[in-house]
Amino acid sequence: MTDRSCLCVVLAAGEGTRMKSALPKVLHPIAGLPMVVHVVRAALAAGGDVALVAGNGAEKVKAAVAPHAPGIEVFVQEQRLGTAHAVLQAREAIGRGYDDLLVVFGDTPLVQADALAAARRRLAEGAHVVVMGFRTDAPAGYGRLIEREGRLVAIREDRDCSDEEKRITFCNGGLMAISGAHALELMNAVRNDNAKGEFYMTDVVAIAHEAGLTVVATEASYDNVLGINNRAELAEAEAIWQQRRRREMMLSGVTLLDPGSVHFSHDTEIGPDTVVEPHVVFGPGVKIAGGAVIHAFSHLEGATVAKGAAVGPFARLRPGADLAEDAKVGNFCEVKQARIDTGAKVNHLTYIGDAVIGAKANIGAGTITCNYDGFSKHVTEIGAGAFIGSNSAL
Ligand code: UD1
Ligand code: CA
Repeated sequence: MTDRSCLCVVLAAGEGTRMKSALPKVLHPIAGLPMVVHVVRAALAAGGDVALVAGNGAEKVKAAVAPHAPGIEVFVQEQRLGTAHAVLQAREAIGRGYDDLLVVFGDTPLVQADALAAARRRLAEGAHVVVMGFRTDAPAGYGRLIEREGRLVAIREDRDCSDEEKRITFCNGGLMAISGAHALELMNAVRNDNAKGEFYMTDVVAIAHEAGLTVVATEASYDNVLGINNRAELAEAEAIWQQRRRREMMLSGVTLLDPGSVHFSHDTEIGPDTVVEPHVVFGPGVKIAGGAVIHAFSHLEGATVAKGAAVGPFARLRPGADLAEDAKVGNFCEVKQARIDTGAKVNHLTYIGDAVIGAKANIGAGTITCNYDGFSKHVTEIGAGAFIGSNSAL
């Protein structure tokens, strides 16, 4: 399959009114990363080039995606006239003659690269159009897959369904793979004579079927196609993402005593044989080596923790906290932009910010660094082996 070229078009121009937000819908984060970036990453992992169709908040969307996908092409859909119209905004890219065209939605953040790859495989086997379907007991709102004699003949949008069609539980997940040779011709043939007056890319199915092309449906799990329209669905997607990552972490050798209470960021890294106790939150940018312990109720972001170090319970590590091997940061301690060197202890009710604490130093209870004079932060340096008595303000 790797010898087939592929373009993945990510549709992200929708309004997202049901989010009731000033932020464009596709920029709402899952595990701290905008949902559209999750989709773009899956598309890149499935192989090939990616083009993004933005509309609402296009500049913001572009800026959010660019760092994660250098060189991604962004097209702007000025007027939202439907999904086929959106795809056609990328006609210049599609027309470059790719073997495969994938179309995915920017608000379906849990789509996985292997589902995209599976759809591409069907193209490689000779299908012209592949639709990713899923089964649900609550099909209202989704396009229904209309099959006849084992072949997919049409997708009917919910609003256009007859009562009988409304009972179909095999639904369109939104993702489509189309043979690159036919893609533009099929999209161009779509009309807007439906209940919403939109150009639906789902009509490609009936058009292709009538032209004698091979149209098939694959079945994906619900998480792959979970579309986010409101904040309840956003929370549902977050929960599924967290569950996936907890499992990956455990299978890679990390002990989670109460997995359901640990929250990861998209970029959390933890080495094997580290133990994470209940109720720990990892914000962005945390790297933990193997063999460390993160005790209960700790909150970490932008922190680095080396082998054998211990954090918490009730510790807060803020950006720039850097704990060397066997360092300890205990209960009700906050560390920011500070190196705690090998074997040093900061154990009780302490704030260490903009500081360097030498190896094996011992910082007494209630110690704080107060090195900000209102204008600049003056780094506090404490040498190796120093003993700082309790209740010191440095
Ligand atoms: C779509 C499918 C439906 C499927 C459902 C799965 C169509 C016509 N319908 O319906 O069969 O069951 O997804 O969730 O495809 N967009 C644009 N520009 C537009 C219109 C939409 O970029 O002019 C983008 C949206 O941002 C969104 C995606 O396309 O990411 C889907 O559009 P949406 O209006 O949400 O389609 P649904 O009604 O959910
Ligand atoms: Ca939708």
